[in-house]
Amino acid sequence: MNPCYHTPLIHFTSHYRHMSSTNSSAASQPIDFKTIQQLMSPIMAQVDKEILQELNSDVVLINQIGFHIVNSGGKRLRPMLVALSACALGYEGKDHTTLAAVIEFIHTATLLHDDVVDESDMRRGDETANAIWGNAASVLVGDFLYSRSFEMMVGVNNMRVMDILSHATNAIAEGEVLQLLNINNPDTSEAQYLEVIRRKTAKLFEAGTRLGAVLANKDEETEKALSTYGLHLGNAFQIMDDMLDYTADVAELGKNLGDDLAEGKPTLPLIHAMAHGTAEQSKFIKETIKNGNRDAYLDILAIIKSTGSLDYTAQLADQEAQKAIDALSNIPDSNYKQAMEQLALFSIQRSY
Ligand code: IPE
Ligand code: IPE
Ligand code: MG
Ligand code: MG
Repeated sequence: MNPCYHTPLIHFTSHYRHMSSTNSSAASQPIDFKTIQQLMSPIMAQVDKEILQELNSDVVLINQIGFHIVNSGGKRLRPMLVALSACALGYEGKDHTTLAAVIEFIHTATLLHDDVVDESDMRRGDETANAIWGNAASVLVGDFLYSRSFEMMVGVNNMRVMDILSHATNAIAEGEVLQLLNINNPDTSEAQYLEVIRRKTAKLFEAGTRLGAVLANKDEETEKALSTYGLHLGNAFQIMDDMLDYTADVAELGKNLGDDLAEGKPTLPLIHAMAHGTAEQSKFIKETIKNGNRDAYLDILAIIKSTGSLDYTAQLADQEAQKAIDALSNIPDSNYKQAMEQLALFSIQRSY
């Protein structure tokens, strides 16, 4: 049986390809994340099996922290994208589930590290690993997951795969360090912000979707199309994440709001508001970025609303999602391709 488990009975509530990209914005189309999960559930069950198998270590703390984070209800978006890309291109082998697990391990490692750096104490509706076990344990188990992911990818025995994933993990590290340099710096430009999110988030999405094309042995043009899709999807996803840090419902998001403000992180809503607010508003935001202040949350929220900065942020995410969808235009139609279009919409309409 084709491991992509083709399921012809799936019907998406909206068919993106019927929409014109000129007269409808991506954000106005309804999304259907549950249908995508349903389409992918046999493959994702296999991915989860590999994730659990590979988490194993005879060091008890690694198992404890590893299971805590891996079983805590992440969306599994990145591994899903690896599998969707491979399946959309007709891949018939088995390595897509292993590489999907690899990508989720890398993502999970970055989250363990990120929550230490960001001093976050809530993720996926639960306490973060650093809140429970402390910073040292989180960093070290993050390292375990990173290095385990490399052991797994070596098993796939494909130099292109190694090349893509080693560069992606390197770019993520650069992105996180660049972001560190921007902390408490209110002069961070929009271009600098975009460079950070491209590296820290979009590169992993890009690697995931490119791997699908590499596994399916497709030509350069197809590989480029899938990479472009992943990169723009990743940008849209992080821009929305930065907006959700101000606007989400905590229970739905599963993370605390205002973490970015508490840390003095100059994300797009703040960068736009400083440029478009009154002198007094700009000064207030600058001071808050310089010092980091969670208590300023409501006042800052009022400013980013009144300056149109939330709308601006949403529009940019919308444009990125649109670019992702447009990149797939020459990929043959299938349930998998439609699911990828839907995921681009989900990334900008999500509340969690
Ligand atoms: C969180 O990613 C980190 C970002 C890049 C914003 P997700 O929102 O995909 O996290 P989980 O895996 O679903 O919890
Ligand atoms: C994503 O950035 C971090 C990584 C790519 C590791 P955030 O710091 O915004 O992610 P959350 O909000 O903590 O999930
Ligand atoms: Mg964070
Ligand atoms: Mg965030």
